[in-house]
Amino acid sequence: MANSKPAMLLKLALVSLALAPAAGVADGAKTTTTRLRFYIHDIVTPPPGGQATAVLVARGATPLPGDPRTRFGDTFVIDDPLTEGPGAASAAVGRAQGFFMFASQTELALLLSVNMVFTAGPHNGSTVAVLARDAILDAVRELPVVGGTGGFRGVTGYGLLRTHSINTTAHNAVLLVDMYLKV
Ligand SMILES: *[C@@H]1O[C@H](CO)[C@@H](O)[C@H](O)[C@H]1NC(C)=O
Ligand SMILES: *[C@@H]1O[C@H](CO)[C@@H](O)[C@H](O)[C@H]1NC(C)=O
Repeated sequence: MANSKPAMLLKLALVSLALAPAAGVADGAKTTTTRLRFYIHDIVTPPPGGQATAVLVARGATPLPGDPRTRFGDTFVIDDPLTEGPGAASAAVGRAQGFFMFASQTELALLLSVNMVFTAGPHNGSTVAVLARDAILDAVRELPVVGGTGGFRGVTGYGLLRTHSINTTAHNAVLLVDMYLKV
């Protein structure tokens, strides 16, 4: 009997240690919610002296019904500036680095695979990874967030993508992104 009491106390202590983290997760006490708004400048045709940030690296074979200049499989690699506001001279907050590919044979719909790399402000040094279907003529496209690094390690959430302005001759676009993130 004299030996069983300390054993019982130890057992209780182990049980409460095991339960403590679970309780912390369950009440959500450590979740931080972050809302981000920024603009993407996708520049296929740069102004004189400027630099393209979206470059065609693979040309598909079959023209798309909605836009014969574009082909199923056309793939662009991108390193697009991210800014606070819609203007080209607006303060930089990062880059959108990755690629998009025309992945539908019947619609103007992209596979968009991109890391949002933040280079200024409170999220400088952190990234958010997005893997999305982007039907470019839709008013709002949903961006699934599949991960992140730095301050966004283990992030979950989503983004909403809207076309702010587009030049269909130059194929240049300014896109608005709203992100709703939880870490
Ligand atoms: C972002 O972080 C890098 C690395 O710490 C630093 O060199 C740079 O000055 C920072 N940029 C801004 C705009 O704060
Ligand atoms: C659209 O792009 C074309 C070709 O680069 C250019 O000539 C034209 O001025 C642009 N239109 C607008 C409204 O910026």
